[in-house]
Amino acid sequence: MNVQFDFSSRHAMVFGGTTGINLGIAQAYARAGARVTVVSRKQANVDAAAATLSALGLGLGLVADVRDEQAVAAALAQAVAAHGPIDVLVSGAAGNFLAPAAQMSANAFKVVVDIDLLGSFHVARQALQHLRQGAASLIFISAPQSTVPMAYQAHVCAAKAGVDQLARVLALEWGALGVRVNAISPGPIEGTEGMRRLAPQGEEGAALVRQMVPLGRMGTTDDIAQLAMFLGSDAAGYISGAVIACDGGAQGQLSPMILAAADGALKKT
Ligand code: HXC
Repeated sequence: MNVQFDFSSRHAMVFGGTTGINLGIAQAYARAGARVTVVSRKQANVDAAAATLSALGLGLGLVADVRDEQAVAAALAQAVAAHGPIDVLVSGAAGNFLAPAAQMSANAFKVVVDIDLLGSFHVARQALQHLRQGAASLIFISAPQSTVPMAYQAHVCAAKAGVDQLARVLALEWGALGVRVNAISPGPIEGTEGMRRLAPQGEEGAALVRQMVPLGRMGTTDDIAQLAMFLGSDAAGYISGAVIACDGGAQGQLSPMILAAADGALKKT
């Protein structure tokens, strides 16, 4: 993939940026010259990601749980002290597991809403004062579950629907401040924790994806990173309030994949 973006002299900060899609985004910004800060709740993941990013340029890793608003605020302050005002902020921390609603405890539902939705609010609200004045891009990571009801995903569907609306509302409220707010909705992306949890493994999973995805393949973290770079760049200067799918044309037709995975996983429990 050869689209070139230039993020030199910019600060990109990625919550949840130590693994999977979010790490791919962080690495892409770093390769494009950005000073990059990643945040997640696990020290080991933070250390590994910070080392990877430092090899590409100026990387900083910080530990914070997005459910803890004060920890989010502290991470933002530390990031800005090190790398300056934030040009691009990605809020991508998420939790997920398969569970039938009738057997899901209220706490299990709440933990995903707290990470995905309330965590996104914490990140956005606390970051506002630290965003580059007049020209910043805030990107939420949503999911097809935000619009497509999927069995065993009541918590994620509810949380991600909220994330889409949060993006749209903040786009209305913060446009006058020069903050563009958008969301990316990734389809099935290979090698991610989400796919390990939500897709049957091996040839069964690959065959289902080929059936559901018109482009006939799983996405890569680079597919998502390219969109994140576009949304973070001046090329997307008039795009705000958009929820953009990057899913090979699947348009949320992923329910059979999740049902097949649940069929395997839930039978074992
Ligand atoms: C049922 C479960 C469960 C499971 C946890 N719980 N895992 N219930 N089935 N597999 C319940 C627990 O019993 C508990 O409820 C409550 O949830 C909280 O669990 P804890 O383990 O105490 O919480 P915590 O350690 O804070 O973190 C749990 C977690 C984490 C956030 C859910 O395990 C997690 O999500 N890891 C996965 C991260 C991940 O997959 N990220 C990628 C998401 S991708 P009780 O009642 O016992 O207290 C994505 C988009 C996919 O979301 C798009 C696909 C197309």
